[in-house]
Amino acid sequence: MAARSSRQPSNSGVSVTPGHIPVLLNEVIDALNPRDGGIYVDGTLGGGGYARAILDAADCTVLGIDRDPDAIARNEPLLEIYGARLRLVPGRFGDMDTLVRGLGIDAVDGVTLDLGVSSPQIDVAERGFSFAKDGPLDMRMEQSGESAADVVNTASESDLAHIVRTLGEERHARRVARAIVQARTEIEIKTTEQLANIVRGVVPKSRKTNVDPATRTFQAIRIHVNDEIGELERGLVGAEQILRPDGRLAVVAFHSLEDRPVKAFLRTRSGGDGRGSRHMPDAPAGRPPAWRLPTRRAITPSDGETSINPRSRSARMRVGERTEAPSWGTTKEGDDE
Ligand SMILES: C[S@@+](CC[C@H](N)C(=O)[O-])C[C@H]1O[C@@H](n2cnc3c(N)ncnc32)[C@H](O)[C@@H]1O
Repeated sequence: MAARSSRQPSNSGVSVTPGHIPVLLNEVIDALNPRDGGIYVDGTLGGGGYARAILDAADCTVLGIDRDPDAIARNEPLLEIYGARLRLVPGRFGDMDTLVRGLGIDAVDGVTLDLGVSSPQIDVAERGFSFAKDGPLDMRMEQSGESAADVVNTASESDLAHIVRTLGEERHARRVARAIVQARTEIEIKTTEQLANIVRGVVPKSRKTNVDPATRTFQAIRIHVNDEIGELERGLVGAEQILRPDGRLAVVAFHSLEDRPVKAFLRTRSGGDGRGSRHMPDAPAGRPPAWRLPTRRAITPSDGETSINPRSRSARMRVGERTEAPSWGTTKEGDDE
């Protein structure tokens, strides 16, 4: 792993499979500001880029959660470097509260989430995430449960259209759904190439950008298969429940479907104005704010970072700092204002 950034996670000669360049790494570490003795949750361990940088920044502990068994296995060599300071935790960050308490830990000092898929997941054709490489139509981060092929071959036309429209923001969702249903009456859709070609047959190529017409449909099916928005909503509440006062949450999102819920959650639960002060009026739902916003705006990558890592172009980081107030829990009240 080459973290091309001024913060280079150490590897001390231990071999860790490379492949994912961490995005906004310096900004995440600055936001979390790791301290000696602190406990930090990396809810999206991936290639371990953030986890290593946190461990290198202070004499602290990182609980590295990932739902992909390959990601957990890829980080095992790091145990040789960091010993008990790194705990590898298979599971979903939506269950963070339970996972952390299951380790006998009641509160943590920081939480970070780097949403979406990692480069190794996209680059390995057999994982079925990519329309650029032919492989089985899978897309399951966890490698179990309902696959993309199950969804594409069994969902109703209206459900497919809804998924593609809402999670892919695809204007031609109805056409895509109709084409999928038509194609599967002839032959089961088993591969990424089959699906990509079906979509390319009905979605026009943009004259302005070079984006493959299958991009939005693949995004939609992936988000649906992995319930990524549900996970994010549960993960934000989980972070609120386990962060101690003054503990920081840093979330890196790659598109507006992910960024919007983070922004709405932090804004509403910080009292709407981001100050989260005891002297400010209560939040709209009449509760004391659970968060302060150290930075109001999303933080985006520098030109230097985007030139080295084009994948970082769409990244946006939002940061929240926990107040002393109790968690609002799972209420949705006001969250999507
Ligand atoms: C963008 S990568 C993270 C990269 C990491 N920050 C690094 O520096 O290497 C996202 C990772 O999060 C994992 N992931 C996505 N959603 C998850 C969830 N709900 N729970 C746990 N892990 C998740 C994916 O399996 C993937 O390994």
